[in-house]
Amino acid sequence: MPKITANAFLQKKAEHQKITMITAYDYPFAMIADEAGIDAILVGDSLAMVVQGLDTTLPVTMDEMIYHTKIVSRAVKNAMVIGDMPFLSYQISVEDTVRNGGRFLKEAGASAVKIEGGAEVKKQIKALVEADIPVIAHIGLMPQAIHRMGGYKVQGKTQDAAERLIEDAQILVEAGAFAIVLEAIPLDLARRITDELVIPTIGIGAGPHCDGQVLVMHDVLGLYERFAPKFIKRYANLKEQALKAIQTYKEEVEKGIFPSTEQSFQ
Ligand code: KIV
Repeated sequence: MPKITANAFLQKKAEHQKITMITAYDYPFAMIADEAGIDAILVGDSLAMVVQGLDTTLPVTMDEMIYHTKIVSRAVKNAMVIGDMPFLSYQISVEDTVRNGGRFLKEAGASAVKIEGGAEVKKQIKALVEADIPVIAHIGLMPQAIHRMGGYKVQGKTQDAAERLIEDAQILVEAGAFAIVLEAIPLDLARRITDELVIPTIGIGAGPHCDGQVLVMHDVLGLYERFAPKFIKRYANLKEQALKAIQTYKEEVEKGIFPSTEQSFQ
């Protein structure tokens, strides 16, 4: 099967087929997501929280993002790998944006980048696209703007805020983004944006009418308990299974059950 490209995203929208995306940060889970047939794997800056144990996504660095993206790319055969541009990798200048965005493709094997922001990142997105770096935009709740937004809150709830998001989405299309992540916005607003745009919307906490959905792997698998927004769905409880397995291993070592002759050499 050929690698999923930006064109495949557009084709899926045209054919009313849902786009599937999940985050991954390491080799085994990226391989599992790819084997499951997921369209796109986002190496999200959420790794700051679910992998590094930090309180926000702000501290994760470009070098750390490149490190994880390289590992994920190594595991993936078919899915599109997307590198998430971390805080301050694109806010300072257009030159920085292209240099940092380019690193995801040149050093880490990604085929697209994601960038948070509306009209304020129009020039950065334009510059990335002009440098042949495909871009997914991200509006609504933007975790990198947590201090301005005052918490992880649903966005676009007033008429004014909703209109601003619709305008932002149109500006991002004009700038050249090939898809837009809509995070934590009311489902009717997400439907309106999805219907109005020629490019696909990928929802997270944005209801069922988006062209695709994305979730954080650790939420899907039940590996992260510190924060569970209403919009996540746990499809497994790996934390519990891992805990039981490690407790059993510990007990067996303490009781002299492991290793037995089966795991020993004569
Ligand atoms: O960093 C991330 O994982 C994300 C997704 C939740 C969209 O931005």
